[in-house]
Amino acid sequence: MAPQAPSVIRANVKTFNSKGLVDVSEPKALEIHEIKSLAQQYAKATLNAQKAGFDMIEVHAANGYLIDQFLRDKTNHRDDMYGGSIENRARFLLEVIDEIIKVYPVNLIGCRISPASTFNDIDDSDPQNLYSYVVTELGKRKLAYLHIIEGETGGPRDANPKVNFAELKKLFKTHGGMNIITNNGYNKAMAERAIENNEADLVAFGDPFLANPDLVKRLENNYPLNTPNQRTFYGGTEKGYIDYPFYSD
Ligand SMILES: Cc1cc2nc3c(=O)[nH]c(=O)nc-3n(C[C@H](O)[C@H](O)[C@H](O)COP(=O)(O)O)c2cc1C
Repeated sequence: MAPQAPSVIRANVKTFNSKGLVDVSEPKALEIHEIKSLAQQYAKATLNAQKAGFDMIEVHAANGYLIDQFLRDKTNHRDDMYGGSIENRARFLLEVIDEIIKVYPVNLIGCRISPASTFNDIDDSDPQNLYSYVVTELGKRKLAYLHIIEGETGGPRDANPKVNFAELKKLFKTHGGMNIITNNGYNKAMAERAIENNEADLVAFGDPFLANPDLVKRLENNYPLNTPNQRTFYGGTEKGYIDYPFYSD
């Protein structure tokens, strides 16, 4: 079965299957009724996660995955109610959020975005205006948090000078959004500075967590950190995921 996407555009990236890393295949464009049904499936997934014991829900609208493909004009070439204008491209994300809000407390729902990232072969011609609309609408719904990846995911933080992250964070909060989580390339000192300067309420760590099973303890005690091994990122096995050592002095 072909993967599903807003438009029939094959991404220039690789993915894992049983043969290892392979080129991704061409997707099929979703029909309108399928998009509506997908939004409802997010609500079902939320209830499943709640049953499984999760404390909160983060809607993943980042990094070139399905919702992000609807948001950005490199991957969304539709000419119906889900494509074209910024409002139309943001429709799927907002319908997903609204379906979830019907079944789950909004103060336990967050959303992750990556406005400047081209990860997974994605891009947009006018990210500031696109994401200003997106974060304003998320703010109006009073989400628990906006999780914002600054720059290129896992790469330079100043990858795209067209995006003003401070402005996006402000818009989210002035419209009723609760908290900002920021991410990408932070160490302890940078994270503390971001909190002190009111640039974020929380800071998320990616590969430092991957490489340090006891990251919180190490940061609290200023213990040295294990260095992440990029060669085992996305490796397809347990190697590089569960075999980094705990700190011992
Ligand atoms: C091996 C690996 C797997 C990742 N998988 C995901 C993922 O599935 N979804 C996602 O949104 N980000 C994923 N990321 C990106 C991280 O969430 C994070 O945004 C990125 O590593 C930048 O943060 P950092 O500088 O603290 O590592 C992954 C990163 C790594 C290194």
